[in-house]
Amino acid sequence: MSLRSLSRSLLRPMSMSTPTTTRLAAVHSHLQHTNTPLTTPHQTRPKTTTTMSSPTTMKAIEITQTGGPEVLSYKTDHPVPQPVEGQVLVQNSISGINYIDTYFRTGLYPSPKPEILGREGVGAIVSLGPGADSYGFKVGDRVAWLGTGGYAEYTAVPAAKAVKVPEGISDEDVMAGFLSGLTVLTLVKETYPVQKGETVLVHAAAGGAGSLMVQVLKSIGANVIGTAGGEVKCALAQSLGADTVIDYRAEDWVSKVKEVTGGKGVDVVYDSVGKDTWEGALEVIKRKGTIVWFGNASGPVPPLPIQKLSPKNLKVARPQLFGYIETREEYEFYTNELFALLKSGQLKVKVHNVYPLEQAAQAHIDLEGRKTTGKPLLKP
Ligand SMILES: NC(=O)c1ccc[n+]([C@@H]2O[C@H](COP(=O)([O-])OP(=O)(O)OC[C@H]3O[C@@H](n4cnc5c(N)ncnc54)[C@H](OP(=O)(O)O)[C@@H]3O)[C@@H](O)[C@H]2O)c1
Repeated sequence: MSLRSLSRSLLRPMSMSTPTTTRLAAVHSHLQHTNTPLTTPHQTRPKTTTTMSSPTTMKAIEITQTGGPEVLSYKTDHPVPQPVEGQVLVQNSISGINYIDTYFRTGLYPSPKPEILGREGVGAIVSLGPGADSYGFKVGDRVAWLGTGGYAEYTAVPAAKAVKVPEGISDEDVMAGFLSGLTVLTLVKETYPVQKGETVLVHAAAGGAGSLMVQVLKSIGANVIGTAGGEVKCALAQSLGADTVIDYRAEDWVSKVKEVTGGKGVDVVYDSVGKDTWEGALEVIKRKGTIVWFGNASGPVPPLPIQKLSPKNLKVARPQLFGYIETREEYEFYTNELFALLKSGQLKVKVHNVYPLEQAAQAHIDLEGRKTTGKPLLKP
Protein backbone atom coordinates (compact mmCIF):
# COMPACT_ATOMS: atom_id res chain seq x y z
CA MET A 1 0.00 0.00 0.00
CA SER A 2 1.39 3.45 -0.88
CA LEU A 3 1.98 6.08 1.79
CA ARG A 4 -0.85 8.18 0.34
CA SER A 5 -3.44 5.40 0.18
CA LEU A 6 -2.43 4.21 3.64
CA SER A 7 -2.92 7.71 4.97
CA ARG A 8 -6.35 8.06 3.31
CA SER A 9 -7.56 4.92 5.04
CA LEU A 10 -6.38 6.24 8.42
CA LEU A 11 -8.41 9.39 8.45
CA ARG A 12 -11.85 9.51 9.92
CA PRO A 13 -13.92 12.32 8.37
CA MET A 14 -15.99 14.59 10.60
CA SER A 15 -19.71 15.05 10.20
CA MET A 16 -20.34 18.13 8.05
CA SER A 17 -22.93 20.79 8.68
CA THR A 18 -23.18 24.56 8.68
CA PRO A 19 -21.27 26.23 11.50
CA THR A 20 -23.52 28.30 13.76
CA THR A 21 -21.00 29.13 16.41
CA THR A 22 -20.75 32.74 17.48
CA ARG A 23 -17.23 34.06 17.71
CA LEU A 24 -16.52 36.35 20.61
CA ALA A 25 -14.59 39.56 20.44
CA ALA A 26 -10.82 39.49 20.38
CA VAL A 27 -9.25 37.61 23.25
CA HIS A 28 -6.84 39.44 25.53
CA SER A 29 -3.30 39.17 24.29
CA HIS A 30 -1.62 39.52 27.67
CA LEU A 31 -2.78 36.60 29.72
CA GLN A 32 -1.89 35.38 33.13
CA HIS A 33 -0.34 32.02 33.80
CA THR A 34 -1.70 30.30 36.90
CA ASN A 35 -1.80 26.91 38.46
CA THR A 36 -5.24 27.35 40.01
CA PRO A 37 -6.85 23.91 40.35
CA LEU A 38 -9.97 23.51 38.23
CA THR A 39 -11.88 21.51 40.75
CA THR A 40 -11.62 19.78 44.08
CA PRO A 41 -11.10 16.05 43.48
CA HIS A 42 -13.31 14.70 46.24
CA GLN A 43 -16.41 16.79 46.78
CA THR A 44 -18.49 15.76 49.76
CA ARG A 45 -21.04 18.54 50.39
CA PRO A 46 -24.37 17.06 49.20
CA LYS A 47 -26.02 20.37 48.30
CA THR A 48 -27.51 20.71 44.87
CA THR A 49 -30.05 23.12 43.45
CA THR A 50 -31.31 21.02 40.56
CA THR A 51 -31.01 17.31 40.10
CA MET A 52 -32.18 14.19 38.33
CA SER A 53 -31.79 10.77 39.81
CA SER A 54 -28.30 9.32 39.76
CA PRO A 55 -26.85 6.35 41.65
CA THR A 56 -24.73 6.73 44.76
CA THR A 57 -21.85 4.58 43.49
CA MET A 58 -20.13 4.38 40.13
CA LYS A 59 -17.41 2.73 38.10
CA ALA A 60 -14.15 4.65 38.19
CA ILE A 61 -10.40 4.26 37.82
CA GLU A 62 -8.70 5.32 41.03
CA ILE A 63 -5.02 5.66 41.87
CA THR A 64 -3.87 5.76 45.45
CA GLN A 65 -0.13 6.05 44.71
CA THR A 66 2.17 7.04 41.89
CA GLY A 67 3.66 4.38 39.64
CA GLY A 68 3.27 2.49 36.39
CA PRO A 69 0.00 1.68 34.63
CA GLU A 70 -0.63 -1.04 37.24
CA VAL A 71 -1.62 1.61 39.80
CA LEU A 72 -4.76 2.36 37.76
CA SER A 73 -7.32 0.47 39.80
CA TYR A 74 -10.81 -0.29 38.46
CA LYS A 75 -13.54 0.26 41.06
CA THR A 76 -17.22 -0.53 40.70
CA ASP A 77 -18.33 1.08 43.95
CA HIS A 78 -16.70 4.48 44.00
CA PRO A 79 -18.95 7.18 45.53
CA VAL A 80 -20.58 9.44 42.95
CA PRO A 81 -19.30 12.97 43.64
CA GLN A 82 -21.77 15.69 44.57
CA PRO A 83 -21.52 19.06 42.83
CA VAL A 84 -20.66 21.86 45.25
CA GLU A 85 -20.94 25.62 44.69
CA GLY A 86 -20.38 26.49 41.05
CA GLN A 87 -20.13 22.87 39.86
CA VAL A 88 -22.20 20.64 37.63
CA LEU A 89 -22.32 16.85 37.82
CA VAL A 90 -21.79 15.28 34.40
CA GLN A 91 -22.58 11.70 33.42
CA ASN A 92 -19.69 11.09 31.05
CA SER A 93 -20.38 9.53 27.71
CA ILE A 94 -16.71 9.59 26.63
CA SER A 95 -13.58 10.84 28.39
CA GLY A 96 -10.30 11.89 26.84
CA ILE A 97 -6.97 10.23 27.58
CA ASN A 98 -4.11 12.69 27.42
CA TYR A 99 -0.40 12.37 27.92
CA ILE A 100 -0.69 14.63 30.96
CA ASP A 101 -2.62 11.83 32.71
CA THR A 102 0.57 9.77 32.69
CA TYR A 103 2.50 12.62 34.33
CA PHE A 104 0.02 12.70 37.23
CA ARG A 105 0.14 8.91 37.43
CA THR A 106 3.95 8.77 37.61
CA GLY A 107 4.25 11.82 39.85
CA LEU A 108 6.17 13.90 37.28
CA TYR A 109 3.42 16.42 37.96
CA PRO A 110 2.50 16.21 41.67
CA SER A 111 -1.18 15.86 42.60
CA PRO A 112 -3.04 14.73 45.71
CA LYS A 113 -3.82 11.03 45.98
CA PRO A 114 -6.15 9.17 45.95
CA GLU A 115 -7.06 10.58 42.57
CA ILE A 116 -9.25 9.86 39.59
CA LEU A 117 -7.25 10.84 36.51
CA GLY A 118 -8.70 12.40 33.36
CA ARG A 119 -8.75 16.09 32.44
CA GLU A 120 -11.72 16.17 30.06
CA GLY A 121 -15.04 14.56 29.26
CA VAL A 122 -18.30 14.95 27.40
CA GLY A 123 -21.73 13.93 28.61
CA ALA A 124 -25.03 15.06 30.09
CA ILE A 125 -25.51 17.29 33.12
CA VAL A 126 -27.39 15.33 35.78
CA SER A 127 -27.35 17.91 38.58
CA LEU A 128 -26.24 21.45 39.31
CA GLY A 129 -24.61 22.78 42.45
CA PRO A 130 -25.61 26.16 43.85
CA GLY A 131 -24.82 28.98 41.43
CA ALA A 132 -24.00 26.73 38.50
CA ASP A 133 -27.16 27.78 36.67
CA SER A 134 -25.66 31.27 36.22
CA TYR A 135 -23.86 29.84 33.19
CA GLY A 136 -27.21 28.99 31.60
CA PHE A 137 -26.96 25.25 32.17
CA LYS A 138 -29.84 22.91 32.93
CA VAL A 139 -30.16 19.21 33.64
CA GLY A 140 -29.88 17.23 30.41
CA ASP A 141 -27.55 19.67 28.59
CA ARG A 142 -24.79 17.98 26.62
CA VAL A 143 -21.52 19.56 27.68
CA ALA A 144 -17.81 19.10 27.20
CA TRP A 145 -15.66 19.97 30.20
CA LEU A 146 -12.11 20.44 31.40
CA GLY A 147 -11.30 19.55 34.99
CA THR A 148 -10.20 16.46 36.86
CA GLY A 149 -11.70 13.04 37.44
CA GLY A 150 -12.69 11.99 33.91
CA TYR A 151 -11.89 8.29 34.28
CA ALA A 152 -15.30 7.71 35.84
CA GLU A 153 -18.98 7.47 35.04
CA TYR A 154 -19.70 10.77 36.78
CA THR A 155 -17.55 13.85 37.35
CA ALA A 156 -18.28 17.03 39.29
CA VAL A 157 -16.72 19.83 37.28
CA PRO A 158 -16.63 23.63 37.52
CA ALA A 159 -19.51 25.07 35.51
CA ALA A 160 -17.04 27.72 34.37
CA LYS A 161 -15.12 25.02 32.53
CA ALA A 162 -18.15 23.28 31.00
CA VAL A 163 -19.54 24.32 27.65
CA LYS A 164 -22.56 23.20 25.64
CA VAL A 165 -21.63 21.20 22.56
CA PRO A 166 -23.45 22.22 19.38
CA GLU A 167 -25.51 19.67 17.47
CA GLY A 168 -23.68 18.01 14.61
CA ILE A 169 -20.51 16.97 16.46
CA SER A 170 -20.45 13.48 17.92
CA ASP A 171 -19.25 12.82 21.46
CA GLU A 172 -16.24 10.92 20.16
CA ASP A 173 -15.26 13.66 17.77
CA VAL A 174 -15.57 16.40 20.37
CA MET A 175 -13.39 14.43 22.80
CA ALA A 176 -10.79 13.70 20.14
CA GLY A 177 -10.54 17.40 19.49
CA PHE A 178 -11.29 19.12 22.79
CA LEU A 179 -8.30 19.48 25.15
CA SER A 180 -5.90 18.70 22.30
CA GLY A 181 -7.54 21.18 19.94
CA LEU A 182 -7.71 23.96 22.52
CA THR A 183 -4.02 23.41 23.21
CA VAL A 184 -3.17 23.69 19.55
CA LEU A 185 -5.26 26.81 18.94
CA THR A 186 -3.73 28.63 21.89
CA LEU A 187 -0.17 27.58 21.01
CA VAL A 188 -0.34 28.75 17.39
CA LYS A 189 -2.25 31.95 18.15
CA GLU A 190 -0.73 33.13 21.40
CA THR A 191 2.50 31.37 22.30
CA TYR A 192 3.85 32.12 18.85
CA PRO A 193 1.36 33.68 16.40
CA VAL A 194 2.28 31.71 13.30
CA GLN A 195 2.11 33.66 10.03
CA LYS A 196 1.43 32.52 6.50
CA GLY A 197 4.62 31.38 4.77
CA GLU A 198 6.55 30.63 7.94
CA THR A 199 8.23 27.26 8.35
CA VAL A 200 7.20 25.29 11.41
CA LEU A 201 8.54 22.06 12.89
CA VAL A 202 6.01 19.89 14.75
CA HIS A 203 7.20 16.83 16.64
CA ALA A 204 4.89 13.85 17.28
CA ALA A 205 2.81 15.06 14.35
CA ALA A 206 0.53 12.01 14.38
CA GLY A 207 -0.35 12.26 18.06
CA GLY A 208 -3.51 13.56 19.69
CA ALA A 209 -2.29 17.16 19.71
CA GLY A 210 0.19 16.91 16.82
CA SER A 211 -2.36 15.64 14.28
CA LEU A 212 -4.54 18.69 14.96
CA MET A 213 -1.59 21.09 14.97
CA VAL A 214 -0.55 20.08 11.47
CA GLN A 215 -4.03 20.93 10.17
CA VAL A 216 -4.32 24.25 11.98
CA LEU A 217 -0.88 25.33 10.76
CA LYS A 218 -1.73 24.40 7.18
CA SER A 219 -4.97 26.40 7.42
CA ILE A 220 -2.84 29.44 8.35
CA GLY A 221 -0.63 28.83 5.31
CA ALA A 222 2.50 27.70 7.13
CA ASN A 223 5.06 25.34 5.65
CA VAL A 224 4.86 22.35 7.99
CA ILE A 225 7.60 19.86 8.75
CA GLY A 226 6.23 17.03 10.89
CA THR A 227 8.11 14.26 12.64
CA ALA A 228 6.55 10.95 13.64
CA GLY A 229 7.67 7.45 14.54
CA GLY A 230 7.04 4.84 11.86
CA GLU A 231 5.31 4.49 8.53
CA VAL A 232 1.71 4.54 9.72
CA LYS A 233 2.20 7.70 11.77
CA CYS A 234 4.14 9.41 8.99
CA ALA A 235 1.34 8.57 6.57
CA LEU A 236 -1.21 10.18 8.84
CA ALA A 237 0.86 13.37 9.21
CA GLN A 238 1.24 13.54 5.44
CA SER A 239 -2.47 13.00 4.83
CA LEU A 240 -3.22 15.88 7.17
CA GLY A 241 -1.19 18.22 5.00
CA ALA A 242 2.36 18.24 6.36
CA ASP A 243 4.66 19.42 3.57
CA THR A 244 7.57 17.30 4.79
CA VAL A 245 7.33 14.28 7.04
CA ILE A 246 10.35 12.80 8.80
CA ASP A 247 10.37 9.45 10.54
CA TYR A 248 12.49 10.61 13.45
CA ARG A 249 12.95 7.08 14.76
CA ALA A 250 14.57 6.00 11.50
CA GLU A 251 16.23 9.18 10.17
CA ASP A 252 18.53 11.90 11.46
CA TRP A 253 15.79 14.50 11.74
CA VAL A 254 18.16 17.39 12.50
CA SER A 255 20.08 16.88 9.25
CA LYS A 256 16.85 16.37 7.33
CA VAL A 257 15.30 19.62 8.59
CA LYS A 258 18.47 21.51 7.67
CA GLU A 259 18.38 19.89 4.25
CA VAL A 260 14.74 20.67 3.43
CA THR A 261 15.09 24.27 4.62
CA GLY A 262 18.22 24.80 2.54
CA GLY A 263 20.24 25.24 5.70
CA LYS A 264 18.09 28.17 6.90
CA GLY A 265 16.22 26.32 9.64
CA VAL A 266 12.66 26.87 10.86
CA ASP A 267 10.89 29.91 12.29
CA VAL A 268 9.35 27.99 15.18
CA VAL A 269 9.60 24.54 16.77
CA TYR A 270 6.64 23.02 18.62
CA ASP A 271 8.24 20.31 20.73
CA SER A 272 6.15 18.11 23.02
CA VAL A 273 8.68 15.27 23.12
CA GLY A 274 11.15 17.07 25.40
CA LYS A 275 14.17 15.15 26.62
CA ASP A 276 15.00 13.33 23.37
CA THR A 277 14.54 16.29 21.00
CA TRP A 278 15.22 19.52 22.89
CA GLU A 279 18.84 19.90 21.84
CA GLY A 280 18.03 19.35 18.18
CA ALA A 281 15.60 22.27 18.36
CA LEU A 282 18.50 24.61 19.09
CA GLU A 283 20.22 23.36 15.93
CA VAL A 284 17.31 23.58 13.49
CA ILE A 285 15.88 26.89 14.65
CA LYS A 286 16.54 30.03 12.58
CA ARG A 287 18.23 33.14 13.88
CA LYS A 288 15.58 35.06 15.90
CA GLY A 289 13.37 31.97 15.98
CA THR A 290 11.11 30.68 18.76
CA ILE A 291 11.17 27.28 20.44
CA VAL A 292 7.97 26.21 22.16
CA TRP A 293 8.49 23.33 24.56
CA PHE A 294 5.06 22.20 25.66
CA GLY A 295 5.36 18.60 26.77
CA ASN A 296 7.51 15.79 28.15
CA ALA A 297 6.55 12.61 26.27
CA SER A 298 10.16 11.35 26.48
CA GLY A 299 10.94 13.14 29.74
CA PRO A 300 11.32 16.80 30.69
CA VAL A 301 13.67 19.29 29.06
CA PRO A 302 16.58 19.73 31.50
CA PRO A 303 17.40 23.14 32.98
CA LEU A 304 18.50 25.29 30.05
CA PRO A 305 21.66 27.41 30.30
CA ILE A 306 20.23 30.72 29.17
CA GLN A 307 23.37 31.63 27.24
CA LYS A 308 22.46 28.93 24.71
CA LEU A 309 19.89 31.43 23.38
CA SER A 310 22.45 34.12 22.55
CA PRO A 311 24.14 32.87 19.37
CA LYS A 312 20.86 33.03 17.39
CA ASN A 313 18.93 35.57 19.50
CA LEU A 314 16.32 32.92 20.29
CA LYS A 315 13.10 33.04 22.26
CA VAL A 316 11.76 30.07 24.19
CA ALA A 317 8.36 29.40 25.74
CA ARG A 318 7.02 26.72 28.06
CA PRO A 319 3.24 27.29 27.99
CA GLN A 320 0.31 25.39 29.47
CA LEU A 321 -3.22 25.42 28.06
CA PHE A 322 -4.93 26.39 31.27
CA GLY A 323 -3.05 29.68 31.43
CA TYR A 324 -4.69 30.75 28.15
CA ILE A 325 -8.29 29.85 29.00
CA GLU A 326 -8.58 31.00 32.58
CA THR A 327 -11.44 33.47 32.15
CA ARG A 328 -14.85 32.51 30.83
CA GLU A 329 -14.37 34.92 27.95
CA GLU A 330 -11.10 33.25 26.94
CA TYR A 331 -12.60 29.79 27.37
CA GLU A 332 -15.63 30.59 25.21
CA PHE A 333 -13.50 32.30 22.60
CA TYR A 334 -11.43 29.18 22.02
CA THR A 335 -14.20 26.58 22.49
CA ASN A 336 -16.41 28.46 20.00
CA GLU A 337 -13.61 28.55 17.49
CA LEU A 338 -12.83 24.88 18.02
CA PHE A 339 -16.46 23.77 17.65
CA ALA A 340 -16.79 25.78 14.44
CA LEU A 341 -13.71 24.05 13.01
CA LEU A 342 -14.94 20.60 14.04
CA LYS A 343 -18.50 21.13 12.84
CA SER A 344 -17.47 22.50 9.46
CA GLY A 345 -15.10 19.59 8.91
CA GLN A 346 -12.09 21.93 8.57
CA LEU A 347 -10.50 20.11 11.49
CA LYS A 348 -10.54 16.32 11.16
CA VAL A 349 -10.02 14.09 14.13
CA LYS A 350 -8.38 10.69 14.32
CA VAL A 351 -9.55 8.46 17.16
CA HIS A 352 -6.96 5.83 17.98
CA ASN A 353 -9.29 3.63 19.99
CA VAL A 354 -12.17 3.89 22.43
CA TYR A 355 -11.03 1.85 25.43
CA PRO A 356 -13.59 0.48 27.89
CA LEU A 357 -13.08 2.11 31.29
CA GLU A 358 -11.64 -1.07 32.80
CA GLN A 359 -8.89 -1.02 30.14
CA ALA A 360 -7.48 2.36 31.18
CA ALA A 361 -4.17 0.71 32.16
CA GLN A 362 -3.83 -0.78 28.68
CA ALA A 363 -4.50 2.66 27.19
CA HIS A 364 -1.63 4.08 29.25
CA ILE A 365 0.65 1.23 28.17
CA ASP A 366 -0.19 1.94 24.53
CA LEU A 367 0.21 5.72 24.88
CA GLU A 368 3.57 5.53 26.63
CA GLY A 369 4.66 2.72 24.31
CA ARG A 370 4.17 5.06 21.30
CA LYS A 371 1.53 2.69 19.95
CA THR A 372 -1.28 5.23 19.59
CA THR A 373 -2.00 7.23 16.45
CA GLY A 374 -4.34 10.15 17.01
CA LYS A 375 -6.36 10.32 20.20
CA PRO A 376 -7.14 7.53 22.67
CA LEU A 377 -10.54 7.79 24.34
CA LEU A 378 -12.16 6.08 27.33
CA LYS A 379 -15.74 4.82 27.53
CA PRO A 380 -16.93 4.98 31.15
N1 LIG B 1 1.39 22.35 27.66
C1 LIG B 1 0.12 21.99 27.53
O1 LIG B 1 -0.81 22.70 27.94
C2 LIG B 1 -0.20 20.70 26.87
C3 LIG B 1 -1.52 20.37 26.57
C4 LIG B 1 -1.77 19.17 25.89
C5 LIG B 1 -0.72 18.33 25.57
N2 LIG B 1 0.54 18.67 25.93
C6 LIG B 1 1.68 17.80 25.59
O2 LIG B 1 1.62 17.49 24.23
C7 LIG B 1 2.16 16.19 24.03
C8 LIG B 1 1.19 15.38 23.25
O3 LIG B 1 0.12 15.02 24.09
P1 LIG B 1 -0.94 13.99 23.56
O4 LIG B 1 -1.85 13.69 24.71
O5 LIG B 1 -1.51 14.48 22.29
O6 LIG B 1 -0.04 12.68 23.31
P2 LIG B 1 0.37 12.02 21.92
O7 LIG B 1 1.09 13.00 21.08
O8 LIG B 1 -0.81 11.36 21.33
O9 LIG B 1 1.37 10.90 22.41
C9 LIG B 1 2.70 11.21 22.67
C10 LIG B 1 3.57 10.93 21.44
O10 LIG B 1 4.88 11.41 21.70
C11 LIG B 1 5.78 10.71 20.91
N3 LIG B 1 6.96 10.30 21.67
C12 LIG B 1 8.23 10.66 21.37
N4 LIG B 1 9.07 10.12 22.23
C13 LIG B 1 8.36 9.41 23.10
C14 LIG B 1 8.70 8.61 24.21
N5 LIG B 1 9.97 8.43 24.62
N6 LIG B 1 7.70 8.00 24.89
C15 LIG B 1 6.43 8.17 24.52
N7 LIG B 1 6.05 8.91 23.45
C16 LIG B 1 7.01 9.53 22.74
C17 LIG B 1 5.04 9.48 20.36
O11 LIG B 1 4.79 9.69 18.98
P3 LIG B 1 5.81 9.04 17.92
O12 LIG B 1 5.64 7.57 18.05
O13 LIG B 1 5.36 9.58 16.62
O14 LIG B 1 7.17 9.50 18.32
C18 LIG B 1 3.75 9.47 21.13
O15 LIG B 1 2.69 8.91 20.39
C19 LIG B 1 2.52 15.65 25.40
O16 LIG B 1 3.87 15.90 25.65
C20 LIG B 1 1.66 16.48 26.32
O17 LIG B 1 2.18 16.58 27.60
C21 LIG B 1 0.83 19.84 26.56
